Amino acid sequence: MKKQMKEALLPLKSSLIPLIMEIQSPKYPEWTTLLSLKKISISHGVRQVYDQGDGQALLFIHGFPLNHRMWCEQLEEFSRDYRVIAPDLCGFGGSDSVSDDAVLTMKQFSDELVEILLTLDLDIPVHLVGLSMGGYILGQFQKDHAMRIASMVFCDTKSTADTEEVKSNRHKTARVVLEAGSSSLAEVMGSKLFAPNTPASIFDEVKTMIVDASPAGIAAASRGMAEREDFTDQLQTFRVPTLVVAGEYDSISPPAEMQTMAEKIPDSEFIEIANAGHMSPLENPQDFNAALRAFLRRVELA
Ligand code: MLT
Repeated sequence: MKKQMKEALLPLKSSLIPLIMEIQSPKYPEWTTLLSLKKISISHGVRQVYDQGDGQALLFIHGFPLNHRMWCEQLEEFSRDYRVIAPDLCGFGGSDSVSDDAVLTMKQFSDELVEILLTLDLDIPVHLVGLSMGGYILGQFQKDHAMRIASMVFCDTKSTADTEEVKSNRHKTARVVLEAGSSSLAEVMGSKLFAPNTPASIFDEVKTMIVDASPAGIAAASRGMAEREDFTDQLQTFRVPTLVVAGEYDSISPPAEMQTMAEKIPDSEFIEIANAGHMSPLENPQDFNAALRAFLRRVELA
């Protein structure tokens, strides 16, 4: 569906509710996704949040510099059995952004997730799934808000902090994107994210998400990632069931490193997703969803 048409339809949302019930079928995935989006106000502005389904809450935290759409292969699938929440973090997708010189730390992102949950009346432990930067945020969430967690899934991420070289690259990224726009990052990042046989259509979709992020949001999150703390020492203190997922060809968070991370977490499982790189939920949704479903079932039975 064309962007202009989606925008034109938004004001009609409430009058369309009865119609939605009829058209919620796999033939109309774009409709259901569009109509599950909410704009909510929290203390630092408006956030766009996908909220669909009933049951235990399952919160998806996107990677950098993407938005909730990176979970497009999970949203409808899991909202059949769970209440699926997938926000666009500050500065990304349809959420408000920040000033050009801002820093968005993993703590700010994790606190904003709590605010989003409370605004949605979810003052209960939830299942949390974070990819890459989403995993860094999840590490912080576990440090500050452990009582709010039912289980955790770390996808294509790491517990270590940045080296000095990576930190300096992040500050360079911030400068370049502010000067040249978000699209300048799309080509550079895109090529590192995928397995060799991942279709170009997935690359294109990811590039669109990068372009949709505001330059200030990208810059602020880059600076925030550079400041993030190493949470490797905390892994052994995790007290909830945890799944660690790595794409077979992930060169940013290699499977061997993720397996070592999993081995430090007491109640954990590690799974490698075949034919996938850093974007395993998008590249091989069939295997990713099967692994997530099996894990959640185990957590529910425990
Ligand atoms: C991500 O996918 O969120 C990024 O690769 C995180 C990073 O740059 O470390």
